[in-house]
Amino acid sequence: MFPVRLLTVFLSAAVLVSAHAHRKVADCDTSTSVMDLPANQTALVAPATPPLFILLGVGVQNYTCSGTTFASIGAVASLMDISCLDHTPEFATVQTRAFEIWDRAPAGTSATSIGAHVGAPHLDGFHYFVTSPSGTGLSPKWDFTSTGRFAGNATAFVLGAKVGDILAPTDPATNIDWLELTAVEGDLASTVFRIDTVNGQPPTSCVAGSPDISVKYTSKYYLY
Ligand SMILES: *[C@@H]1O[C@H](CO)[C@@H](O)[C@H](O)[C@H]1NC(C)=O
Ligand SMILES: *[C@@H]1O[C@H](CO)[C@@H](O)[C@H](O)[C@H]1NC(C)=O
Ligand SMILES: *[C@@H]1O[C@H](CO)[C@@H](O)[C@H](O)[C@H]1NC(C)=O
Repeated sequence: MFPVRLLTVFLSAAVLVSAHAHRKVADCDTSTSVMDLPANQTALVAPATPPLFILLGVGVQNYTCSGTTFASIGAVASLMDISCLDHTPEFATVQTRAFEIWDRAPAGTSATSIGAHVGAPHLDGFHYFVTSPSGTGLSPKWDFTSTGRFAGNATAFVLGAKVGDILAPTDPATNIDWLELTAVEGDLASTVFRIDTVNGQPPTSCVAGSPDISVKYTSKYYLY
């Protein structure tokens, strides 16, 4: 009996330690977190409930040259948990510091690796685009199914449809719009916001036939 009981004690202790450590680094309490939206607009409406997830997005916005202007053809980004940075002095500018590092990073640097430089080492998932449920066009997806604390959970994703869009409050020619999206598939969240965007806008014009481009960006994503 004794060795079995001892083993049980060890296992329980190990589970407690890992659950505690996991919670601390990856998933801080968001019950008092408040998303900061510009006051002079009504297009984006913060839900009355606290956010489920607060994420740093690091990645690229992709564009194709259509006529003489660039058109969006999706994006791909790594999503790092920043709930533990909320309520710290670093939180307000984490996307700016991440962009400065991402912008200077040599070709081939993974977007995920940028998180560790700004106190956000924990990868929750990925943002990318898939064919829309209608079969035409592209829909943005936030997908936690393959990595992090929801790995292996097939419904831990959300496919969004845009319901609100404002120009970035500062430098909208450089920084992509702030958005609100409603869930059309998946159980991860019912509403997604993209705010605090840094960079990501394409050049204002292009020469017909020029190749597709990827423009680096960072932002915060709030999932409710
Ligand atoms: C965006 O471009 C990157 C290369 O910069 C590529 O890896 C990615 O698959 C592209 N994604 C989409 C949705 O076009
Ligand atoms: C809203 O306020 C921001 C500053 O917070 C300002 O840059 C922007 O021009 C304002 N937009 C409108 C539509 O008044
Ligand atoms: C799977 O993920 C969904 C969406 O985040 C969540 O509601 C559900 O509780 C998860 N299931 C398990 C077994 O963890």
